[in-house]
Amino acid sequence: GTLAGGVAHDFNNILAIILGNLELAIDDFPRDHQGQINLEEAMTAGLRAKDLIRQLLSFSRPTDQSRQSLVIKPIVEESLKLMRSTLPANIEIQSKLDDRVHPIRSDVTQIHQVIINLCTNAAHAMAENGGQIQIGLLEKDLDKNDLEKLGKLVPGRYVILEVSDTGHGIAPEHLSRIFDPYYSTKEVDKGTGMGLSLVYGIVKSLGGEIFVESQPKVGTTFRLYFPVVDTEPVEEKEEIEEIPKGRGRIMLVDDEPALTKLGAQMLTRLGYETRTFNDPVEALQWFEVHADAIDLVITDMTMPHLSGAQVTERIKQQRADLPVVLCTGFNEYIDESGANHIGVDAFVMKPLILKDLAQTIHKMIVEA
Ligand SMILES: Nc1ncnc2c1ncn2[C@@H]1O[C@H](COP(=O)(O)OP(=O)(O)OP(=O)(O)O)[C@@H](O)[C@H]1O
Ligand SMILES: [Mg+2]
Repeated sequence: GTLAGGVAHDFNNILAIILGNLELAIDDFPRDHQGQINLEEAMTAGLRAKDLIRQLLSFSRPTDQSRQSLVIKPIVEESLKLMRSTLPANIEIQSKLDDRVHPIRSDVTQIHQVIINLCTNAAHAMAENGGQIQIGLLEKDLDKNDLEKLGKLVPGRYVILEVSDTGHGIAPEHLSRIFDPYYSTKEVDKGTGMGLSLVYGIVKSLGGEIFVESQPKVGTTFRLYFPVVDTEPVEEKEEIEEIPKGRGRIMLVDDEPALTKLGAQMLTRLGYETRTFNDPVEALQWFEVHADAIDLVITDMTMPHLSGAQVTERIKQQRADLPVVLCTGFNEYIDESGANHIGVDAFVMKPLILKDLAQTIHKMIVEA
């Protein structure tokens, strides 16, 4: 529980509004318009934020994170691009990334988290005078002779990620503590001490090792080893998937007016007629009279007066055949059996992404 549930819920709604509006705006620009390109950049960053929160909150939760074999160079590049746009001008990033490194067993968010945390620390260490961050990506065969510097690693082929800075360095007596959770030398509002422990956790969970070398006043190097997997690389899925449209009448219930407004806009673009409610009690009153006037219900989970589960129950009492889609936030994660238990037919994670929403609805009303 890094983020309190309530904070996560609000954060989620805010992110939903940002992402949803971006998505609609992108759609309004002609292709290859510079405005569209900029908005897509913002969208990419927003989606990362979404994944990141999800991952932070699922950290304590045993889930089978889909570990793919992943070529990490493009992910490293994307993370660096994001870093560059947030760093002050006196901090320079240089990278030397070998094109031929093999895939490792990881996912995009993990690599992203590693880079962002290491680079942010590096930038903090150079905040006063500026300096350089150097990123290296290479691959090496490590044999028995290398064993003493390998920690617990077994001989084999490794992808090595190096992040160096020319910052203030770490005193030798502190080196052994930097990976501890909550160990921080920063002011309370500047750091929680969770960054490196997160990175450490990720590297270890991937069967890797992390090493650090530092010299006070000269700089610091983090060196991360990831075992290579010999399976074929999996290409990152292109975003240009078909967004299915359809026809039908949808009731949308969410206590946040900005979200129903956004949802209605999305649904209208997809071809559906929408009726929105911000009060679940009102929604149910309307439904009692108009139960046959809709083809699908989308409801938020956490609302005042009535929860999405309760709304679903009442709706199913009147029309058991009506598909209900539940929107859940990060902190309200429900797996498939939980969804069956509540009686919902599908659920979508907030923030709503047009493509996910379109596919879910299409399955429920058009393909059914
Ligand atoms: N590149 C670096 N140069 C100098 N010191 C570092 C560097 N990276 C980490 N440290 C030291 O290790 C400590 C722990 O780092 P960690 O990333 O875990 O926490 P934090 O940066 O203090 O807070 P958070 O990452 O949660 O915002 C830092 O407070 C800092 O003292
Ligand atoms: Mg940090």
